[in-house]
Amino acid sequence: MSDETRGRPREGDEAFVRSSARGILLTLHSALRALKLYPVENATVQKALDELQATTTAFLGVEPEIELRLAGDFLFLSGVRLRLELDNFAAFSGVLSILRAFDIGVLRIHAGVERREWLAFLSMLLSLANQSFDDRYVALIERMAQASVPNIELEPSTATNEEIGDDREAKEVAKRTYAQGVAVTKEVVNSVRMGRASSLKKVKRAVQMIVDQVLTNETSIIGLTTLRDYDEYTFMHSVNVCIFAVALGRKIGFSKLQLYDLGMTALLHDIGKAKVPIEITTKPGSLEEEEWRMMQAHPWRGAMTLFGMRGYDEIPYRAILVAHEHHMKTDLTGYPRHVRPRQLGLFSRIVAVADGFAAATTRRSYQTVPIEPDQVLKEMWNNPRRGYDPMIVKALINLIGVYPIGTCVILDTFEVAIVASTVSDRDALNRPLVRIAIDANGGAIAAPGIAVDLQEAAPAGGFVRSIVKVTSPERYGLVPGDFFV
Ligand SMILES: [Fe+2]
Ligand SMILES: [Fe+2]
Repeated sequence: MSDETRGRPREGDEAFVRSSARGILLTLHSALRALKLYPVENATVQKALDELQATTTAFLGVEPEIELRLAGDFLFLSGVRLRLELDNFAAFSGVLSILRAFDIGVLRIHAGVERREWLAFLSMLLSLANQSFDDRYVALIERMAQASVPNIELEPSTATNEEIGDDREAKEVAKRTYAQGVAVTKEVVNSVRMGRASSLKKVKRAVQMIVDQVLTNETSIIGLTTLRDYDEYTFMHSVNVCIFAVALGRKIGFSKLQLYDLGMTALLHDIGKAKVPIEITTKPGSLEEEEWRMMQAHPWRGAMTLFGMRGYDEIPYRAILVAHEHHMKTDLTGYPRHVRPRQLGLFSRIVAVADGFAAATTRRSYQTVPIEPDQVLKEMWNNPRRGYDPMIVKALINLIGVYPIGTCVILDTFEVAIVASTVSDRDALNRPLVRIAIDANGGAIAAPGIAVDLQEAAPAGGFVRSIVKVTSPERYGLVPGDFFV
């Protein structure tokens, strides 16, 4: 077998692997835990070994081997990624950490494995885990060579996971960039709150890092905008708006220098909130009229604050404009009230869209359930009173997709499906590729479901299937991830 196909289940076997994988993971972890706590002759240990032997031999009756592979933060069992769920959390992290402790990349179990091999192997893991070695993996391999465990085989993590290293590194860099953005935002907001003078140099550097990440590592950095942390909400909001604004600017064709400028204005758009009492900006529930009036002052207060700031000795004029205009709306019905007719600047229109999307999809202290992204996009697109620039909303839809991957949808054929990929064709954004998970009669279809293209035309005109509405996958007992791996 080639390296490509080795260990990967044949089509049709995947459902079997998936359903067995859970049992193998849980019994492996129970056996390790029992052996750690009790002597071998204890009934708990014996029972746990019996169960491990039972789940593995059942699997090996169908597949020639079990391949447990560690790749980054993921575990794969015979090519199928094991999902971290609430009820397998202990097993998942326990197995993950023991593999990591020994630098094991692959644990391979061959058909014919005996119960005593499991006992020997697991006992070795536990006894060596507490000793220090130059190379614990080598120590384990040496020990295994002495014991007789012919059906248990290991591969070190470095030999098999080289390509994963880059990906992990990319994620690490994205995380550091994000954290840096939050830190400088916090610093500048706090100094404004305390009335201290602050410079924008650090902010500029942090923004440049974010722009570079959007240009080279867009998926990772956008993925971080979904992080939740109540305490850091205000600062994370600014960083998220910065990331979305820069990604939008890139879609529209901005140069790198323009993106630096745009990112700067986005990061500072709510700086005026530092001048609003903190009890109001973080108040759960709705605001009293007077409080709302103070909140609505944040755009002009932000503009005033920025007037006093310098970044590399320049007054950040663009950021002043964006702070002032970002809630005005394109029809000028927002706040602050305009005095003369005006046209919102392009930067303000981009930041307004990024701000609206980031605010609606994030969990805040008073908004416990974030609205689904598709609802937010639809509202931004369909409701002209929201006052967003339609061209920018279109760019956002292109960036995020009307129905993001993993959305659970009900079709006009009464089928339930999971969105499997977004569409780049601008006229067909509401017709993605989906995988049908539940048929018209309510019967479940095993993952990965049946792939259909919603752009498929019906012979009599129109389309074969269309999305009626978005629903929650839990309602149908579906795990979206199962349908698009
Ligand atoms: Fe704002
Ligand atoms: Fe905002």
